[in-house]
Amino acid sequence: MSDLHPLSCMVRDFYNKLNTEVNFLCRLNDADLTKDQTDIYNQLSEEIKKRYYGSGINIPEKLEGKRVLDIGCGSGSLVFILSKLVGPKGSVFGVDMSDGLIDTAKQQSDFHAKLWGYDKPNFEFKVGNIETLDKLGFAPNSFDIVVSNGVFCLVPNKDAAFTHAYNLLKEGGQFYLNDVYAEKDPPEEYRNDEKLWSLGTTGAMRWDRLAEVSGRVGFTTPYLTCAAPVNIVKEEYNKMLGNGRYSCAGWRLFKLGQGAKRDASRVTYNGNISAFPQAFPWDVDLTFPVTMFCCCWMMLLHFPL
Ligand SMILES: C[S@@+](CC[C@H](N)C(=O)[O-])C[C@H]1O[C@@H](n2cnc3c(N)ncnc32)[C@H](O)[C@@H]1O
Repeated sequence: MSDLHPLSCMVRDFYNKLNTEVNFLCRLNDADLTKDQTDIYNQLSEEIKKRYYGSGINIPEKLEGKRVLDIGCGSGSLVFILSKLVGPKGSVFGVDMSDGLIDTAKQQSDFHAKLWGYDKPNFEFKVGNIETLDKLGFAPNSFDIVVSNGVFCLVPNKDAAFTHAYNLLKEGGQFYLNDVYAEKDPPEEYRNDEKLWSLGTTGAMRWDRLAEVSGRVGFTTPYLTCAAPVNIVKEEYNKMLGNGRYSCAGWRLFKLGQGAKRDASRVTYNGNISAFPQAFPWDVDLTFPVTMFCCCWMMLLHFPL
């Protein structure tokens, strides 16, 4: 790839090395997964589980039949999970610039297609730069959902990455983003420090910039779905980072259609997402309970007079 920023070349070398050394473990934030999602994760091959490097797996709901893109998919842990959840009529694509991780994902493809009972994989992996996603041949407005886990904090040109995610989504589509965020900017002298950048710190966006950058390309307000502090153990790194605090956080962002209503609306949740029969957690501030009408209706079904 000739279009990579020098910092991205360094990140690619870092992740290609991790792929062969496998000496860096990320904790799975399984508190944010439903029981079914955790069961699916647990069935992934050991080769894939030990190469999970994300900031927290968040999985959107009601995926059956959907066309999904994972930008910065690494060795494909989330792609393989989504492959099961979209079912045989859906499809999943994973893009990453680290060719070593993509090779590992491809080597593990047959295992996961068989595991989910598919004759042929409903997923595909491509090597590519998410700052120039338009070069990979995906049609604009062609994905129902875009996901990304622990990637934007490593990308120098965030505007470009958000723009491509936006352009590839269909109108009404959802961007399910998990990433590392900073409380404040790092000290100027360490802003491009290679080690700190490849650990996802100095390139992490400030919380308050996410809405500004994603809004500029057209996304709605980001809705926070989960957050957890990042524990930087090495005191030396904390000093270099000016003792700034970092967090992993998950968000839903939407690409609304032309003329979509953006003002306050009345919403009814009818309980039709199987993992959430009583109430649907939209974000950390808002949960939609099943409406009284639906509750009564369900009670009548269970206790016929
Ligand atoms: C922290 S890892 C997360 C990988 C994967 N999402 C996971 O959960 O295991 C970050 C990934 O982003 C990829 N990445 C960083 N910058 C990229 C870019 N500009 N284009 C494509 N991939 C990129 C790296 O190669 C690496 O695989």
